[in-house]
Amino acid sequence: MINELYFEQFPELETDRILLRKLDLSHTAAMQSNRKDEKVMRYMDSDLHLTLKDSENFITENLEMYATKKGLFWALIDKVSNNYIGDFSFWNIDSKNSRTEIGYLLSPQFWGKGLMKEAMLALFNFGFKELNLHSFEANINPANEKSRSVLLSVGFRKEAYFKENYYFNGKYLDSEIYSLLLPDFINSTT
Ligand SMILES: CC(C)(COP(=O)(O)OP(=O)(O)OC[C@H]1O[C@@H](n2cnc3c(N)ncnc32)[C@H](O)[C@@H]1OP(=O)(O)O)[C@@H](O)C(=O)NCCC(=O)NCCS
Repeated sequence: MINELYFEQFPELETDRILLRKLDLSHTAAMQSNRKDEKVMRYMDSDLHLTLKDSENFITENLEMYATKKGLFWALIDKVSNNYIGDFSFWNIDSKNSRTEIGYLLSPQFWGKGLMKEAMLALFNFGFKELNLHSFEANINPANEKSRSVLLSVGFRKEAYFKENYYFNGKYLDSEIYSLLLPDFINSTT
């Protein structure tokens, strides 16, 4: 069973370079500057945040999911500047099966430095050991090579390829499904 304590007390985490804090409306502007950027959103297959209101609504929905124990949403904060550099979600949490889907995004100036892998190691360690999750699921656009690469680097395995199962912007898109179980998690011994 999921450890519900973390829905009363938000789990703030820390790595060498990043603070993982509860995502809230103070992150609206920083989030919008990422989510209005076509380069960042290229394989997200969700609508651009064209206005601040779009990001505000998105964060408000995430906070509602947290309140109903369906998700946990972190802001990734760069320790040097104390600025938001991305976000990470455990969403669609399936308590019965101790499984969650994940979503993640980094500001483009922070790509290529190993920061998302660093965040994932802390988050999955917390997920397996504290939240009592049994598995994680990631659904990616097959063209999203950077996303696949970071998933594989922490131990995810490909479990499915769905052809044209997702309709977005006038097209049916393919999806790849990856999952992570504790024995495959590269950080499982720490
Ligand atoms: C997906 C995403 C978070 C991956 O970002 P990333 O910078 O490639 O991932 P990491 O932060 O883990 O960095 C890994 C890269 O840093 C390099 N790196 C540099 N220093 C490193 C270090 N100390 N440790 C590990 N990797 C390091 C790695 O070699 C790798 O580079 P490569 O891709 O050229 O091989 C990013 O591309 C993104 O935000 N995309 C837009 C949103 C998105 O598509 N999200 C996923 C939806 S499914």
